[in-house]
Amino acid sequence: MNILVIGSGGREHALVWKLAQSPRVEKLYCAPGNGGIAQLAECVAIPPNDIPGLIQFVKQKDIDLTVVGPEEPLLNGIVNQFAAAGLSIYGPSREAAMIEGSKSYAKQLMKKYNIPTAAYEEFTDYETAWSYVQQHGVPIVIKADGLAAGKGVVVAHTLDEARVALEQMLTAGAYGKAGAKVVIEEFLQGEELTLLSFVDGSAVVTMEPAQDHKAVYDGDLGPNTGGMGCYSPVPHIPDVMIKRAVKEIIQPVAQAMVQEGTPFRGILYTGLMITADEPKVIEFNARFGDPETEVILPRLKNDLVDIFIKSLSGELNEVTLEWSEESALTVIMASEGYPGRYQKNLPITGLERVNGVSDLWVFHAGTIRDEKGRYRTSGGRVLAVTALGDSIAEAKEKAYQGVEQISFPGAHYRTDIGDRAIK
Ligand code: AMP
Ligand code: GLY
Repeated sequence: MNILVIGSGGREHALVWKLAQSPRVEKLYCAPGNGGIAQLAECVAIPPNDIPGLIQFVKQKDIDLTVVGPEEPLLNGIVNQFAAAGLSIYGPSREAAMIEGSKSYAKQLMKKYNIPTAAYEEFTDYETAWSYVQQHGVPIVIKADGLAAGKGVVVAHTLDEARVALEQMLTAGAYGKAGAKVVIEEFLQGEELTLLSFVDGSAVVTMEPAQDHKAVYDGDLGPNTGGMGCYSPVPHIPDVMIKRAVKEIIQPVAQAMVQEGTPFRGILYTGLMITADEPKVIEFNARFGDPETEVILPRLKNDLVDIFIKSLSGELNEVTLEWSEESALTVIMASEGYPGRYQKNLPITGLERVNGVSDLWVFHAGTIRDEKGRYRTSGGRVLAVTALGDSIAEAKEKAYQGVEQISFPGAHYRTDIGDRAIK
């Protein structure tokens, strides 16, 4: 088969790396890809939102299956348009992707079907929102309704932080249309957990859990990012909570979407807070997580192509996932200034020192290869250095040994990835 992966991050590098191991794959393409992906796939300079351009390319190269990484093309209807053109693509329709595209839509769906999540209200008017916050007090969570690249959520610990967030979203238009409506929700306490599931209508096959580290600095301090590191499995979360999440949240939401006439087919990302008495939804995404994918796929033993094909032909129920007993841990090396402004095009050194080391992989998140074949930075998150080990502690040690070999000017990373599971 010829397969096209859409996207350019560490998630897509891990996807391409995993797909490349399938005996069913003849040729891999990635649009637009990055410096690391280019080692495994032919990268083509078509932006993920140029849907007509992608359709033309798929026809021209006889591509049998397209796999979508990021959310934006999904919400622009790439799956609907490919389907209309008779092309095979793995991902949810635009209507189903709204579970990520609108927090208010996701909250209404959960309310209607009694799916456990934080209590909330929605607002479009600053004064009303502000008086609600004053009534409820802090901590409180303020979320822009639409897509905001992981930056649309403010966990306010002071009234001042809450007021500024509301002003930014509802008055100053700092988030554009995405912030014209806000969801204000109850602050949940507990352990965060991500469950990714292959979903096809009411069929749900959930992967092993992972825990992301969203804050930029050690100790979960500083602003939220797309994710600074991740590990899997998550041994300190009781198995019963994971089973409950599947039974009380993921299966019911898949069923609810069927009932609403917008069945979900693709990867459903469930972001959970494991509170003292039950798992509750923090958010849904309509795609693989990043950096969750970088720790899940190295542990998955099944042929990923096989799962996609089975799902597309209505046979997802026949899939049984098989997992390596080992632990995986990834550390994100980020550009100086990220998640704020950062410089690009800085030279990366030391990659050759970790090349070929067993159970250690560097998934490229934001790199390019220059004309001389050297890797340079091209994004906020630059590299996802990933290791497998017999325990989280071992995987951590190995991943950080990798990180220490690699450098670029201003590189920063958290040093405490996995510690919640180790201590
Ligand atoms: P989201 O983009 O919705 O995943 O939110 C980003 C981060 O904000 C989450 O990973 C949590 O750390 C935090 N967060 C979101 N909603 C809540 C909540 N209701 N209570 C506590 N923390 C939250
Ligand atoms: N790791 C968070 C996300 O993919 O949205």
